[in-house]
Amino acid sequence: MKIALFVDEGNGDWHARRLVKALNARGAEVVTTTLKHCAFDTASPTGLRIPGFDDTLPDGAFVRSISHGSLEQITFRLGILHALRESGVRVSNDARAVERCVDKSTATFLLQRAGIPTPATITVESETAAHARFGDLTAPVVVKPLFGAQGVGITRAPSPADLPQEEEVGHVYYMQSFIPPRSVDYHEDWRVFVSSGRVLAAMARRSKSWITNVAQGAEPAAHTPDKAMSELATGAARALGADYAGVDVIRHQDGSLLVLEANSNPAWRGLQSVTDVDIAGALATDFLASLERRAIL
Ligand SMILES: Nc1ncnc2c1ncn2[C@@H]1O[C@H](COP(=O)(O)OP(=O)(O)O)[C@@H](O)[C@H]1O
Ligand SMILES: [Mg+2]
Repeated sequence: MKIALFVDEGNGDWHARRLVKALNARGAEVVTTTLKHCAFDTASPTGLRIPGFDDTLPDGAFVRSISHGSLEQITFRLGILHALRESGVRVSNDARAVERCVDKSTATFLLQRAGIPTPATITVESETAAHARFGDLTAPVVVKPLFGAQGVGITRAPSPADLPQEEEVGHVYYMQSFIPPRSVDYHEDWRVFVSSGRVLAAMARRSKSWITNVAQGAEPAAHTPDKAMSELATGAARALGADYAGVDVIRHQDGSLLVLEANSNPAWRGLQSVTDVDIAGALATDFLASLERRAIL
């Protein structure tokens, strides 16, 4: 079994090192590379060139990261992942799942369609449309970058006049009703890490700030999700077609749970610091099992 592991440039990533070790320990050979160094090539019998695979393709591809890039770069890298799948390579997470999760508006749409509760959300193009629809949400309105992550670029607009300029949001406004905190002392939500249809581990994230990403300084704490939270998170991953996902869950003041988003390339360093579950090990086991299931079929 020879696997391609797509990581950020430079092999120094904490997550990548753990995945390589876990995959090797389970008998798989791993070539760590980046999507940036792959190519489409009509001179190759496969039409593709994946570093370390010469004229052949990997038995499977695990996507730890597609890395930052321009719209063209991201389109190219997703194109490589689509091409791998269409060539019969099992890719985890598949390009379709990555696309669905990365675009927050599509993710919200698919969650709603699957019956998964989310905060009230409206996505429109242009400032005029955003102003027109502002009143249909509960202020303050949360505005998120369509392709954002780690809490970067998220703002709260108490009134339409506080909405960001069109250029700041790439002309697309992803607007959401704010879910107020249930405690006067802190803000809290949960990160639930799902793989192969089950919860691997979860954590509560508490912060003085309403943006509770660990990358923004929130404190992670071990959390054992109850049945409702587990089902919501696994349902969200299923709705988005993700083999594994980091699902963000928040609790409404009425006690009900809502899914904020699902990440198709979630980091787990913060989560690993509060759980005994070997996350890289579980991911490697699940991924290799999915390759074996496919080989049997
Ligand atoms: N509608 C909301 N109501 C209350 N808090 C929110 C809402 N949306 C986001 N947040 C806070 O901001 C954080 C980041 O939002 P999220 O949708 O997960 O985007 P990102 O991809 O940047 O992590 C959440 O973990 C939560 O703490
Ligand atoms: Mg998040």
